[in-house]
Amino acid sequence: MPVIGMGTWKTFDVRGKADEGARTRLVAEAIELGVNLFDSSPMYGEAERVLAQALGTRREEAMVATKVWASGAHEGKTQIESALRLYGSVDLYQIHNLVSWQTHLRSLEGLRDDGVIKAIGATHYSSGAFPELEEVMKTGRINAIQIPYNPRQRDVEQRILPLAAEMDLGVVVMRPFGEGALMRSAPNPQRLSPLAEYGVTTWAQALLKWVLSDPRCHVAIPATSSGEHLRENVVAGGPPWFGPEEIQLVAGLASS
Ligand SMILES: NC(=O)c1ccc[n+]([C@@H]2O[C@H](COP(=O)([O-])OP(=O)(O)OC[C@H]3O[C@@H](n4cnc5c(N)ncnc54)[C@H](OP(=O)(O)O)[C@@H]3O)[C@@H](O)[C@H]2O)c1
Repeated sequence: MPVIGMGTWKTFDVRGKADEGARTRLVAEAIELGVNLFDSSPMYGEAERVLAQALGTRREEAMVATKVWASGAHEGKTQIESALRLYGSVDLYQIHNLVSWQTHLRSLEGLRDDGVIKAIGATHYSSGAFPELEEVMKTGRINAIQIPYNPRQRDVEQRILPLAAEMDLGVVVMRPFGEGALMRSAPNPQRLSPLAEYGVTTWAQALLKWVLSDPRCHVAIPATSSGEHLRENVVAGGPPWFGPEEIQLVAGLASS
């Protein structure tokens, strides 16, 4: 299982030779650095296409997680066919924001039985939808969930993460930087000094290691369009993991 993946919302919704070429170079560098899960969605404009182009002949070196986001079966099947043309196969097919999940779950189960997709997931960004997400998890028909988790957004700790662990589901963490908001209120770097022995020297690394130190979380998918940020982020993707004191320190810094 990968630990630091990459999201594509906004960052891969680009058109034109210069921007698309830059994303191809970013994906190549990400793969070199060990990032091997990329998350996309038909909701993200050009992102599915730009990601597929960027992966190119290296498609087999990375896992692709994408989504179906459609209110009806016909539109959902069209989206799925399009993604399968782009990627050949999809490693994790997720139902975006639980939209029409009963309908899409049936189609995705057929594709999983046929081996065209490897696993099925369900995603939601809002805690208001977590009761419905629990319902989907309890069907026993999905393999993974994608949820927001960071020191300022901890609702998943109440019921979602315990249930995911109980049901042995994969957990993909979106928004580890709160869509970048947590990065805009970074603490003074000196306050991170107790984390140096964990290989953490920046706020982005502290936030990623905070998420991944919870053994119920398997992969975080920060989005970035910057090679420098990518190189910084991947450093947080390995042990040693934080203990309770470091978890508390980072949570405190995020709320101060
Ligand atoms: N299923 C859903 O409902 C749903 C909803 C939201 C997101 N997602 C998925 O989760 C992914 C991640 O969430 P997100 O994109 O909302 O937010 P995020 O990963 O929490 O934050 C992304 C922002 O952080 C900045 N950033 C990244 N690394 C940084 C670093 N080392 N230092 C400073 N800034 C840094 C990026 O800017 P730079 O480009 O400048 O680095 C970008 O603006 C999405 O791309 C998408 O794939 C899913």
